[in-house]
Amino acid sequence: MSIQERIQDLKREKNAVILAHNYQLPEIQDVADYVGDSLELSKIAARVEEGLIVFCGVRFMAETAKILSPGKKVIAPEYAAICPMAKMIDGETVIDMREEYPDAVFVAYINTTSDVKAEVDLCVTSANAVRIVSELPADKEIVFLPDKNLGKYVRQETGRTIHIFSGFCPTHNRMLKEDIILAREKWPNALVVSHPECIPEVIELSNHIASTSGMLKFARESHAKEFIIATEQGMLHRLKKENPGKKFYSPSALNICPNMKKTTIAKLLHALETEKSEVDVPEDIRKRAIKTIEYMLVG
Ligand code: 13P
Ligand code: SF4
Repeated sequence: MSIQERIQDLKREKNAVILAHNYQLPEIQDVADYVGDSLELSKIAARVEEGLIVFCGVRFMAETAKILSPGKKVIAPEYAAICPMAKMIDGETVIDMREEYPDAVFVAYINTTSDVKAEVDLCVTSANAVRIVSELPADKEIVFLPDKNLGKYVRQETGRTIHIFSGFCPTHNRMLKEDIILAREKWPNALVVSHPECIPEVIELSNHIASTSGMLKFARESHAKEFIIATEQGMLHRLKKENPGKKFYSPSALNICPNMKKTTIAKLLHALETEKSEVDVPEDIRKRAIKTIEYMLVG
């Protein structure tokens, strides 16, 4: 019996569902029940009926699933898979910042730990940050954390007064404008599609900016046949699989998130067999964090 068949058997036996982020290894994506961006996976985690959620991604995603589905068991096949950007700020820092900006609305990117979510007013993902921020009362100033690149993009798109924390995604931050210029020279007919975690100089050179699932939609609907994809390389698997007549290129060999790649098919099987590495969120934090996430799921 193959490892994939064993995983499917165990899933049925244990009434489990496998969720995987778009950056996961191809073999993980292929065995998952749902593959998506942070917003889609949060919505799915909130509504699935299975009692066991196996989350293939990074820790903040599994914690978000637990916050939204406290009655379910959530396991992360690789407990050490964390998001370095989420680790750049903690709840204490948010409390201190509130003293500096007492009247501001605190908006956190979903790439944050649960204690940060418990301290802010709102949570957003790359798919809805611009819309949610633009809907805030016009007289309110905003603090956006932790991603300085997404914060700058939201500020540019909304024209709002936004104080931005200095965090960043190391994987996206590594991509330079020179990478895009060289990629354009190599593939002159390709459109450049970038994730808003990219630096402003990359965003400026792009034809389209989107979350990972927004990239899938754009590629599907566009008449173009070639695309330079400025995000983590795992994205290319689904783009190629779902658009066999189109070509997708990576502008850099360095845009690989080591944490997203820590979950292997063997670890996924092991997690289903043992149900170890359960993800938990203290109830007091969960109750405060859920309010900021639930708002984000509507609309
Ligand atoms: P999205 O899939 O929500 O665009 O998030 C990208 C990301 O970096 C997740 O870690
Ligand atoms: Fe975090 Fe960046 Fe990795 Fe996403 S790609 S998990 S934002 S380090």
